[in-house]
Amino acid sequence: MAYSNPTIDRILEHRTIREFTEEKVPEEMLAAFLEVINRTASSTGMQAFSVIRATDPKVRRDIAQVCGQEYVARAPELFIFIVDAHRNARIAQEQGSEAKARRGMDRFFQGCMDAVLAAQNLTTAVESAGLGAVFLGSILNDAEAIVRILKLPELTFPVLGVGFGRPNQDPMKKPRMPIALKLFENEYQDRDAWLPAIAEYDKEMETYYDLRERGKRSDSFSGQVARYLDNLQAKRAKMLRVARAQGFDLGLDD
Ligand SMILES: Cc1cc2nc3c(=O)[nH]c(=O)nc-3n(C[C@H](O)[C@H](O)[C@H](O)COP(=O)(O)O)c2cc1C
Repeated sequence: MAYSNPTIDRILEHRTIREFTEEKVPEEMLAAFLEVINRTASSTGMQAFSVIRATDPKVRRDIAQVCGQEYVARAPELFIFIVDAHRNARIAQEQGSEAKARRGMDRFFQGCMDAVLAAQNLTTAVESAGLGAVFLGSILNDAEAIVRILKLPELTFPVLGVGFGRPNQDPMKKPRMPIALKLFENEYQDRDAWLPAIAEYDKEMETYYDLRERGKRSDSFSGQVARYLDNLQAKRAKMLRVARAQGFDLGLDD
């Protein structure tokens, strides 16, 4: 690679970490991570997200149960990023505004994007400090349960969890398909020519050992995709109903 710098070098070393030592994350590091979360770009500057730091063992266990992943409860730090359109609705109402747009679908997506970007920024900062992190999309296995566990009020919605701490494992870097397959110029092109490249990538993926699979070699990427797309997850398929129950108007009615 022709160009690099320490930030790029660190990002290119990214690996998801799922097992941590019991060491606590030092307070001063945590404070810096919170600043990073807070400094993240935010759609229209509305900062329509919040973070819930799960410290209560019972709350952590309940979240881990929703995730179906026991290592979630063991992560030294567990942050849940949520859409928070609740705070701004209250701020607007304090101003005497009717806040007519407070429930809009746009508020929902804006909050999702803010939350996801803040979570990635946190993860980048965590990795730069020599720690490791895991994203937890599995909190959405049961969004309704997470709403209950975290006592989320109207106009909030869980988006993504991040568990982090000092790594207690040394996983391989997971191969990626070539960026050329994901990069287009000016317009999308459905390319049959990608098949040989995917076949190459499949072979590379088969050399990857996923620590979650107890030392078994990984399936090919194509095999993983096929299995994944065969798997309808009933509760996840209905998660926008939970968003609606949280007060968002999804804009689907005439
Ligand atoms: C939005 C998102 C949600 C994820 N959710 C989970 C999760 O619930 N549990 C988990 O163990 N890993 C989760 N991951 C981690 C991915 O499995 C991981 O990034 C992917 O397999 C690539 O591996 P790598 O990060 O080690 O390169 C998630 C990643 C992303 C981006």
